[in-house]
Amino acid sequence: MAFLFNSDAKRGAIFAEAFARELPDIPVSLDPATVDPEAVRYLITWTVPENLARYRNLEILFSIGAGVDQFRIDAVPAHVKVVRMVEDGIVRMMQEYVILAVLALHRNLPAYLNQQRLRSWQAIAPVQASERRIGVLGLGMLGTSVLERLKPFGFPLSGWSRSPREIGGVRCLSGRDGLDTLLRATDILVCLLPLTDETRGLLSAKLFAQLPAGAALVHVGRGPQLDHQALLEALDNGHLTGAVIDVTDPEPLPADHPFWIHSKILLTPHIASVTQPATAAAAVIENIKRFRAGLDPVGLVDRHRGY
Ligand code: GLV
Repeated sequence: MAFLFNSDAKRGAIFAEAFARELPDIPVSLDPATVDPEAVRYLITWTVPENLARYRNLEILFSIGAGVDQFRIDAVPAHVKVVRMVEDGIVRMMQEYVILAVLALHRNLPAYLNQQRLRSWQAIAPVQASERRIGVLGLGMLGTSVLERLKPFGFPLSGWSRSPREIGGVRCLSGRDGLDTLLRATDILVCLLPLTDETRGLLSAKLFAQLPAGAALVHVGRGPQLDHQALLEALDNGHLTGAVIDVTDPEPLPADHPFWIHSKILLTPHIASVTQPATAAAAVIENIKRFRAGLDPVGLVDRHRGY
């Protein structure tokens, strides 16, 4: 039996050390070329290897990242469990980034950065947190954790998910009607949705038009969810006032893409949240222990939903 770590050796060494301590009966291999394919029961990777079929005894395919949209799940045999990365490091980093982005937009940072460049000393009328409504799309582990971190600031908080959820202190909405309701009453929209057929292109001209005038966007979902042209138009005609964008399609953006130099956009290179090897190893080990005890791993992908 073996655990195959199909990524960079530096992170792999951290996994190997944690397994040696916590699951000494499962040897860790960092090298698909030398591992005995029949021994591989567990595989962690960013993309599904072409030759997945050689791992005939594979039981769990772990994604190194929070998303599984990069996996061609249809190519994974039906009996293999596919598991997203849910680990403390990813959660903490996403909390930090969304707080940073929401506060930046709330306190007009893009406009002030622009003014600084122009040597312009001008106060913009402040809006109090109690008047700034935050709407989070996606109420999985990340969306829920981000909302918890936002609570102390006193923003009115709403969240939307496909199926109904309950979170204390947050107005939770679901379904198509729920989305319309959330959008109409959101000043800063945070997208934390997984990429699926339903969410591809969701951040469109139609959606932006549903937001109140003066609204802003934080995009930390997946690049293909955002219609770049629609965002540029909404910013340029003044309907939206700012955007913090961490994910794009393609990544990286071409050098002449308008997002790079847009005065209302803060752009970062898909760094909002990154899997941290030590906490990720602990989460994977915990999941293998759960699986061995007959429980579902945390982050188990529902193939029908696609996340
Ligand atoms: C990053 O986007 C991830 O999927 O972890």
